[in-house]
Amino acid sequence: NSKKEVVDKIKQITGTKPHFEIIDIKDYNLMNEYFSNNKFDAVIHLAGLKAVGESVKNPLAYYENNVYGTLNLIKCMLKYRVMNLIFSSSACVYGDCKNLPIDESEANIVINPYGRTKLFIEEIIRDVVKANPEFNATILRYFNPIGAHKSGLIGEDPNDVPNNIMPYVLKVASGEYECLNVYGNDYNTPDGTGVRDYIHVLDLANAHKCALEHILKNGGLNVYNLGTGCGTSVLELINTFNKVNGVNINYKIVERREGDSEAIYTNPSKAKIELNWYARYNIEDMCKDAYNYIIKNKTNKK
Ligand code: WQD
Repeated sequence: NSKKEVVDKIKQITGTKPHFEIIDIKDYNLMNEYFSNNKFDAVIHLAGLKAVGESVKNPLAYYENNVYGTLNLIKCMLKYRVMNLIFSSSACVYGDCKNLPIDESEANIVINPYGRTKLFIEEIIRDVVKANPEFNATILRYFNPIGAHKSGLIGEDPNDVPNNIMPYVLKVASGEYECLNVYGNDYNTPDGTGVRDYIHVLDLANAHKCALEHILKNGGLNVYNLGTGCGTSVLELINTFNKVNGVNINYKIVERREGDSEAIYTNPSKAKIELNWYARYNIEDMCKDAYNYIIKNKTNKK
């Protein structure tokens, strides 16, 4: 769901062009060949389908890509002794947890296929670490990543109709879509709409840097929630987006979406203490940077 030109934009931002290959994690042979020709200290595994609504409609695609793909990856890592894995998991493993704010000790009661793939992979990782004590893994449970790089060079621009709220809001803001459907306003939340812990993608990226430093230094098996600790409702997100960007997002309330939780937000103190990481950006920064990406790229598109 990304684009090849992102690699050049990473070079523009960092001054370094990353070594880049397109390999499907479902293709064991291609992955094996890549591992046999390259040396790694660690793997940051972000390759996964990630839309809750889509996973309800097409669960097999999610199990094949997310779970089977991860089996291929871990097999290659063990075979070539790449013994540090950082895994992109999700707040979805907490399901519709009512015990807020959520900390890492909360029970996992997944309520959709996407969340189930993440929980299965976490359990697979635990078993692999038990069987291979020298294998280290850090599981990062993302809450809701939104926003874009401040340069406006890279951001969230999914290829098809967005399942997630912010890319959809951006398509309404850019005039590509008429109206945002707000999935339900009859939840037990302050304004009735769903509450989430939105985290700036730059904070998320920084958390991976901290996690990489931590795993190379300390090893082990660790799990961290990555969020701000603040809950924001859908209507609050829309109002903030309108305010900071001087726009007026057209929306209508429709029925709830299957698989949605009512409200989830985290207690991010474990990552702060152990990874020396905390979210620096607030919801206004996220809305501003997300919109900036669209404006920068919309003008480029002309
Ligand atoms: C957020 C809120 C919807 C779309 C996401 C990712 C998942 C994981 C967890 C990382 C909900 C409402 C949405 C729309 C709406 N992240 N909404 N209209 O479902 O919380 O899950 O975060 O792993 O990958 O999918 O995110 O953006 O789909 O929904 O009203 O058109 O916005 O009901 O309350 P979700 P989302």
